[in-house]
Amino acid sequence: MSIDTVIEAWNVADPAAIHPARGISEDAYRESGQVQAELLATVLPAGSRVVDFGCGDGRVAIPLAGLGYDVTGADGSQSMLNRLHETAPDMAAVLTDGTDLARQLGKKADAVVSLAVLIHHTYESAEHIIAGLRAAVRVNGLLVLDWPTSDDPHEGGGWISVTTWSRTRQDDICQRLGLKRVDTDLPWPVFRAVKAA
Ligand SMILES: C[S@@+](CC[C@H](N)C(=O)[O-])C[C@H]1O[C@@H](n2cnc3c(N)ncnc32)[C@H](O)[C@@H]1O
Repeated sequence: MSIDTVIEAWNVADPAAIHPARGISEDAYRESGQVQAELLATVLPAGSRVVDFGCGDGRVAIPLAGLGYDVTGADGSQSMLNRLHETAPDMAAVLTDGTDLARQLGKKADAVVSLAVLIHHTYESAEHIIAGLRAAVRVNGLLVLDWPTSDDPHEGGGWISVTTWSRTRQDDICQRLGLKRVDTDLPWPVFRAVKAA
């Protein structure tokens, strides 16, 4: 599946697909975002300029802004951004597939967070997207990426499937793009943007 095909599928997806908590209630869905925003706040410097890449309708972006971050919501789906705008009309938003994020932002971000986005892409697509995210972050900034490794890595085959990476493949991409792994207690890997080797 190409990047465009994945985005188009999300563009017409039922909003319930974004997170399982929505199957419980809207309150549970929003609470899941609050909990994850508070986790992110344990590593993101207070008040920093953060892009939520693949923000959907703002499950995490909105509570992050509530914690005092200068948040830009970024998504490839205009319908997701429309829903974000309904709930958070003042939040900055950019339409991007990730590969052109730096150009869309204009100014480099202090951090990019991206939850439940890379997992829906092929290895080749994800590598292009990660390169785009890295280019959008200033040197020494942070990237919190839901980019799971596995001892039995698997390339997912559809817009809602889950791709996992080998640690070796991930380390190789990091070295080429200038991403240094940071040790944290977060459930997602965290990287510092460094000059590429
Ligand atoms: C499972 S939802 C996750 C939404 C949000 N990150 C969250 O955790 O609530 C996936 C989102 O990623 C967006 N997305 C997927 N691939 C993308 C890409 N290459 N560029 C931009 N957005 C993308 C979809 O449009 C959708 O809004």
